[in-house]
Amino acid sequence: MMTVKPISAQRLPALLARMPKAELHMHIEGSLEPELMFALAARNGLQVPYADVETLRRAYVFGNLQEFLDIYHAGTLVLRSEQDFYDMTWAYLQRAAADHVLHTEIFFDTQTHTGHGLSADTVLNGLHRACVDAKTQLGISASLILCFLRHLSEAEAFEALEQAMPHLDKLVGIGLASSEVGHPPEKFARVFAKARGLGLRLVAHAGEEGPPAYIWSALDVLKVERIDHGVQSMKDSALVARLKQARIPLTVCPLSNLKLRVFPSLAQHNLGAMLDAGLMATVNSDDPAYFGGYVNDNFTQTFAALGLTAQHAWQLAYNSFEASFIDVSAKRAYQAQLAELFETFE
Ligand code: ADE
Ligand code: ZN
Repeated sequence: MMTVKPISAQRLPALLARMPKAELHMHIEGSLEPELMFALAARNGLQVPYADVETLRRAYVFGNLQEFLDIYHAGTLVLRSEQDFYDMTWAYLQRAAADHVLHTEIFFDTQTHTGHGLSADTVLNGLHRACVDAKTQLGISASLILCFLRHLSEAEAFEALEQAMPHLDKLVGIGLASSEVGHPPEKFARVFAKARGLGLRLVAHAGEEGPPAYIWSALDVLKVERIDHGVQSMKDSALVARLKQARIPLTVCPLSNLKLRVFPSLAQHNLGAMLDAGLMATVNSDDPAYFGGYVNDNFTQTFAALGLTAQHAWQLAYNSFEASFIDVSAKRAYQAQLAELFETFE
């Protein structure tokens, strides 16, 4: 571990903004800003059921995950063509590059869109083309993780995997998202095993609203390599010991947890406690268009609320590369850039 020189509280936001980082938990459909939603609706001859951008933004008040998922799903109805998926992804990648994200692993759920009559090819081709352009035009690497929707059946997950088969080379892994409570991971054991056999990396949302038991089964039944959210793990000391010992990364999303009322305030978030417990936590934006901020907003607001330091900042950014699915030489190169910034930052 690198010992970081102290940085004043006034300079900390600039350091957080400037530091190289990876983002590992961001649903591309959740990056669709109201302005682009209205523009895509107009292009596709559709109506957004809100008067204007401001009215829509004011509707983004949620009591829990399900209330958010209902609005999120309604927002996806404007996405109809490959170009729509490209434009949404490109907009996110530009925001990510501005936040000094050097590598991002983007979640998407084809089942949402095939449920609206689109083909998985339309979705995957649009997303992938934007990722390719990001490398050449923005200098950032982006890979794709297909999330199954856990409120749907095992058969539907298998069907989504089947439809993605012609695009395996465009995917780095699979995940599990949507309504958590009442939908434990076990239903997806066989489809995760199949994906693993195909060489895909495995992650799952667990312990966002759901109990520690769902994190145990994501690890032991689905055999995931990372846990998305995982904030409920702190209720189970044996689980904390397991996550620490196995160095399982947790992709934490503080503003999401705040907006979905997982914690009553950011000052009560357990990110600092997770780091103190030796867990490999990272900071991510989840659904930035809905939760009030991109990854740097998550860093700056959470650091201010919890009084975290430059040492925590370095650890979180280091973890983000360590937890990513890039090869070891790329991890070390990014981590060297991170060290250089911390050595030279005044
Ligand atoms: N899909 C998009 N955002 C999600 C979240 N925070 N939890 C579960 N599923 C999601
Ligand atoms: Zn998520």
